[in-house]
Amino acid sequence: MGRSETVLARALAGLDRGEYRLSTKFTPQIAGDGDDPVADMLAQSLDRLNTDYVDLFWIHNPADVARWTPSLIPLLRKGRIRHVGVSNHNMEQIVLADRILGEAGFRVEAVQNHFSLLYRNSERAGILEYCREHDVRFFSYMVLEQGALTGRYGPANPLPEGSDRAAVYNGILPRLQALTDRMRAIGENRGASAAGVATAWAIAKGTTPIIGVTKADHVDGLVRARGIDLTDEEIAELEALADAANVDTRGWWEQEM
Ligand SMILES: NC(=O)c1ccc[n+]([C@@H]2O[C@H](COP(=O)([O-])OP(=O)(O)OC[C@H]3O[C@@H](n4cnc5c(N)ncnc54)[C@H](OP(=O)(O)O)[C@@H]3O)[C@@H](O)[C@H]2O)c1
Repeated sequence: MGRSETVLARALAGLDRGEYRLSTKFTPQIAGDGDDPVADMLAQSLDRLNTDYVDLFWIHNPADVARWTPSLIPLLRKGRIRHVGVSNHNMEQIVLADRILGEAGFRVEAVQNHFSLLYRNSERAGILEYCREHDVRFFSYMVLEQGALTGRYGPANPLPEGSDRAAVYNGILPRLQALTDRMRAIGENRGASAAGVATAWAIAKGTTPIIGVTKADHVDGLVRARGIDLTDEEIAELEALADAANVDTRGWWEQEM
């Protein structure tokens, strides 16, 4: 565990610490049994990242908000973490975490939830609106539904057999075809791929996508997605096609929002 932090530290070696920002997370489900599991997990991350602070520290899953959130306060005071985000938290849990931090003069500054054309539960639950109103950055993950919304995969070209994502998505690929075809067509007029259009949609909704790029040219696609302005009609059409697919892609680790 933590290998990505070790690899990242190697890639960043030689750069000035002010030239980049780091985020990492505390996962309550794998907390140790010491006196301060949050501080312990952060210390291990800082060690692997070869730094003495992280810019954004996530509470990954909402196991017990009232128990874990207060442990962040001394770390914020010491400057070990600069900002706090919460992931997979519902509205009530976001508000509770914010209240606990607020009593010490800090606040929740970022939310990270699953958000894609196929999975808009954070919007329906009012979390997007809450973030807009409270100046909280909403980071959307699985915007491409692990590849199922890129147009690369379809009934004739399913996700790699035996993979976890194949088990989740291959059965529903036929129902996504109309949506991915339309995204591809919208992208063609703008020199973008279906994946670029799915990403542009997430940006148009006011979110900051976290995309799991696996190839260097995916990064170019992301940069292009920033320049795509979808019209209100296109957004409504894509959302209608997504609703018509009638699929539930909630991850096993996620609660109802
Ligand atoms: N907080 C949480 O609980 C949580 C849970 C899940 C994920 N996340 C975060 O979200 C990130 C993204 O999640 P994810 O990687 O599972 O899903 P994703 O971003 O929806 O999909 C990633 C897949 O899409 C394809 N892809 C990426 N960029 C592309 C592009 N420009 N053009 C075409 N295909 C592209 C790649 O597939 P191929 O390799 O097949 O081309 C890649 O494996 C993760 O790295 C993680 O940081 C957070």
